[in-house]
Amino acid sequence: MFKTRLDDTARAARAHLHAAISDKGALAEPMRYATAGGKGLRAFLVMESARIHGVSESRALWPAAAIEAIHAYSLVHDDMPCMDDDDLRRGLPTVHKKWDDATAVLVGDALQTLAFELLTHDDVGEARVPLISSMARAAGQLGMVHGQALDIAAETADSPLNLDQITELQAGKTGALIRWSGEAGAMLAGADIAPMRDYSTALGLAFQIADDILDVEGDAAAVGKAVGKDADAGKATFVSLLGLEAAKTRAKELVDQACDALSPYGEDADTLREAARFVIQRDR
Ligand code: IPE
Ligand code: IPE
Ligand code: MG
Ligand code: MG
Ligand code: MG
Repeated sequence: MFKTRLDDTARAARAHLHAAISDKGALAEPMRYATAGGKGLRAFLVMESARIHGVSESRALWPAAAIEAIHAYSLVHDDMPCMDDDDLRRGLPTVHKKWDDATAVLVGDALQTLAFELLTHDDVGEARVPLISSMARAAGQLGMVHGQALDIAAETADSPLNLDQITELQAGKTGALIRWSGEAGAMLAGADIAPMRDYSTALGLAFQIADDILDVEGDAAAVGKAVGKDADAGKATFVSLLGLEAAKTRAKELVDQACDALSPYGEDADTLREAARFVIQRDR
């Protein structure tokens, strides 16, 4: 049930995003390439939080496509030689490998601005401004980019980061976009965002812990990207600080916390509960 819905929403959001990429643009091909594949978890969170708040699919598709565009931009830049220097993403060569560094920079730039353009669509309605301003904050200087900067700085830090510092780093680099995705449905409905904020904050942290665990225990063919790189690069992760077992325990606690936050929605939120469990059981 959950897996089908995840795949369906990922496909619908990707189609919506691809339709917004103009064939007249010089970067149409690498932009579509960079936004193909992927689990579509962020789009799913937007669509599902919209559904439980009674928001139509046709409205929710705009923010769903927008967040996948921002996420794809963050990955294209994350993989570049000046960042994590990765050759493989979603089982295929990274954008700078298939094209070149300049293309990768520009594809990221174009996907980022396209995301904001999508949120201005008339169908989004009155929630446009709150969605745009919260996305700017989630992606920007105190959000995803903040986390990415802390992540890179940690590689050369004199002493290892402590738990609070790693939590701040991960809440930024991964947490901020996932939190926005969960909150988007409530914002579209003009409803209280607090339960979805609590759910997706815990979920985002659990998601990054699972990503760090996959880097240690995952199979490169399944995850579609290189594994075993975090320790070599001196990345600050929950696994590097706590070890594998304690990191797994922490991820499970966060999933329970995420599910508890959904109690105001009752059974309606069961698919989101399944999503939380999926996040730490996934193999890619
Ligand atoms: C990978 O995100 C990067 C992180 C933020 C950890 P995903 O695991 O959601 O990547 P795709 O979109 O499914 O490829
Ligand atoms: C990436 O984190 C986070 C963003 C792109 C914002 P990672 O560097 O851990 O992601 P992977 O492992 O390359 O997918
Ligand atoms: Mg990185
Ligand atoms: Mg990386
Ligand atoms: Mg990683």
